[in-house]
Amino acid sequence: MISVTNGEFRLQTARSSYWFRVTPYGHLEHVYYGERLPENQPMEPLALKRNAQTGGCVLYNPADETYCLDMLPLEWSGIGKGDYRNPPAEIKMPDQTFTADFRYQSHTVTNGSLPMQTLPSAYGDADACQTLTLTLLDESNRVTLLLHYTVFEATDVIARRATLVNGNENPLVIRRLMSLQVDLPNDGYRMITLDGGWIKETHRHERPVTYGLLVNESITGDSSNRHNPGFLLAAEGATETSGRAYGFNLVYSGNHYGAVELSAYDLVRVSLGISPHCFEWTLQQCETFETPEAVMSFSAQGLNGLSQQFHDFVNRHIVRGDWQGKERPVLLNNWEAYFFKFTRGKLLRLARRAKKVGVELFVLDDGWFGKRDSDRAGLGDYTVNRRKLSRGLSEFSSRIHGMGLMFGLWFEPEMVNPDSDLYRAHPEYALATPGKEPALGRNQLVLDLCNPAVRDYIVENVTRILDTCNIDYVKWDYNRHISDACSKCLTGQGEFFHRYMLGLYDVLTRVFRPRPGILFESCSSGGNRFDLGMLCFSPQIWSSDDTDPIERLSIQGGLSLLYPLSTMGAHVSEAPHQQTLRDTPLSTRFNVAAFGCLGYELDLKYLTHVQRREVKEQIAFYKRYRALMQYGVFYRSEPEKPNKAVWHCVARDGGASVSGFFQTQTSAAEGFDRLRLTGLKQDGFYQVETKPQNLAVKRFGSLIRHILPIAPHPDGLLLRLANRYYRMQDCVEHYRGYGSALMNGILLNNQFIGSGYSPQIRMLGDFGSNLYVTESADPDSRDEKPIS
Ligand code: GLA
Repeated sequence: MISVTNGEFRLQTARSSYWFRVTPYGHLEHVYYGERLPENQPMEPLALKRNAQTGGCVLYNPADETYCLDMLPLEWSGIGKGDYRNPPAEIKMPDQTFTADFRYQSHTVTNGSLPMQTLPSAYGDADACQTLTLTLLDESNRVTLLLHYTVFEATDVIARRATLVNGNENPLVIRRLMSLQVDLPNDGYRMITLDGGWIKETHRHERPVTYGLLVNESITGDSSNRHNPGFLLAAEGATETSGRAYGFNLVYSGNHYGAVELSAYDLVRVSLGISPHCFEWTLQQCETFETPEAVMSFSAQGLNGLSQQFHDFVNRHIVRGDWQGKERPVLLNNWEAYFFKFTRGKLLRLARRAKKVGVELFVLDDGWFGKRDSDRAGLGDYTVNRRKLSRGLSEFSSRIHGMGLMFGLWFEPEMVNPDSDLYRAHPEYALATPGKEPALGRNQLVLDLCNPAVRDYIVENVTRILDTCNIDYVKWDYNRHISDACSKCLTGQGEFFHRYMLGLYDVLTRVFRPRPGILFESCSSGGNRFDLGMLCFSPQIWSSDDTDPIERLSIQGGLSLLYPLSTMGAHVSEAPHQQTLRDTPLSTRFNVAAFGCLGYELDLKYLTHVQRREVKEQIAFYKRYRALMQYGVFYRSEPEKPNKAVWHCVARDGGASVSGFFQTQTSAAEGFDRLRLTGLKQDGFYQVETKPQNLAVKRFGSLIRHILPIAPHPDGLLLRLANRYYRMQDCVEHYRGYGSALMNGILLNNQFIGSGYSPQIRMLGDFGSNLYVTESADPDSRDEKPIS
């Protein structure tokens, strides 16, 4: 996996090669990152040439007129020696200058991953990965830089990070220290980022990489819903299904900085690490600073290929504990059903209904503690609210378990409301800038996780409840960004944002590592902290407070570029949706949520008889295909029309798949729809069938009069009753064929085109969708196995 000969380093994964070498002056010259090459391929044809002298260059060595750092692709660069591109480090060195020139001294190769001292990181044993550590030195300052590369061969990911060690008796001050720098020759790249905000997280945006700097940064104190830390570079012409693409992500949950710069000499520099925003870290003699780990991957199979590599990597080398690789339970969360207004009786009735439709885990969300009847009070307190839970939490938990359900509980431990017993007793636990009123967000302040007493308070209270109330699942929320970034426990406030993260990881380690059986779902107003750092602790993350499936197409579709479906919390809620007022069919709500960790978040009491049956069927269907939906190979189809999205989850052996065909806004008489199946065996024989689903009678409004033999009042009792007890079947299609034909594309039945209702017409309209199940079949038998 890692071979080193004569100063040449070849890092090989199953499908990629990452090569660099030491220059005559001790710098690390990047040579190649792309499709896997034979290990004995000489580097020379791949290396950037420097035969001509270029005007305007600062020469590293006056005797070598072509050695100009600004024109070299480098693994790491410094300041003050002629490279004017985005620097990976800005350090006030012990000699008080910013000049830094780190040069190669030695290296080691070890088997397995190298655990970090302070931060979570990807893990793997000797069979899965090897780690290369290079030692670089700035000689005059006696400052050492270690560059670590862990090569995860099977999943085609290389993890990188840097460690700085001050060997000088004088201190140094780090203002910026990236985890990764990659210099690549330009290939017409587009930078793809995942941006948004609350209820509109991880929407995918693309920009051409052009001269100057594109920055993808978070300064909110968390990895943020504004800009996810991960991003992609797609080479000219790369699509979902073909072409060359690179992906980068950071194992970190705090402020991040990602940048792509195109230089005047057509080199693209990628940087990724902690954001330099308000960052200042002093290292005394012998002290060490380790950056978070960054991960990168390359695929020649388009964006889907890249996503699939990241999915496998996250499932195998980031997620850990008992839930690693394990199917996630179907849950019901009471939040959108009741918000803060619930009683024990209401919850138990909801849980009973949930059990009846097949739910496996009941989650009690916000509002069970302190004076938490709104978001104005109670955060920081852990006394059970006896007005709502008259017999306490432990009794409630046993009742839930008694129904044969697992029991999950919501916490928001990093926060405090000024109106809370904790704040009255310990106002100094909250972040505040001396002499200034701290700024509130959602009526709450952030607790100072740099303070060990605060961390102990959280760990003691949360673990007491986990251990005494038999909690199977925790939703750990974090509902505002950081302001007043100032801790009384720190001398240098430039350390604050990173120290907060170290504090958070300490708390999570102490709470969850001894309790690996608890399923931990992280949340931050939805997806405000959807990152690999949190995934080292929480196997799944609540993707967004937006449960509108049409919005979720963008949110989950965006996330899927970097994160596997096994990590994405996705719930069916009421429509019209609380976030958008959009009215969507129950079938589409399920069809989108099925591409994730399925949950329900609504009051089942208000479902009509037919809807309850539909939910029961949905859950049964999901359980049957859950392993495929959570851990299958996921593909996004390249959209054939702008109002469509098509996703597939395919079994690893190509023997089965579930495809989702989603329509956003309908357009009139728009012609044919094609479903191109993917990932099947070319010569395998299959049957394809639409998952049967319902059409609500009320969807047709007064049009229903044209279908029925009688003409009932569109708002009358008859139709209201029909809507409760009668369901119309949506179109079910059946196909049979070889993988080669089905992957070429099935031309689907017509959609409704002012045509009336018929079971042969796909009644999609606005926000309609269907799931198609493909399973291996016998080409000689005409019998179709029913799929549900
Ligand atoms: C956040 C979460 C929601 C819910 C509420 C409770 O907004 O994202 O899912 O838990 O907090 O206050």
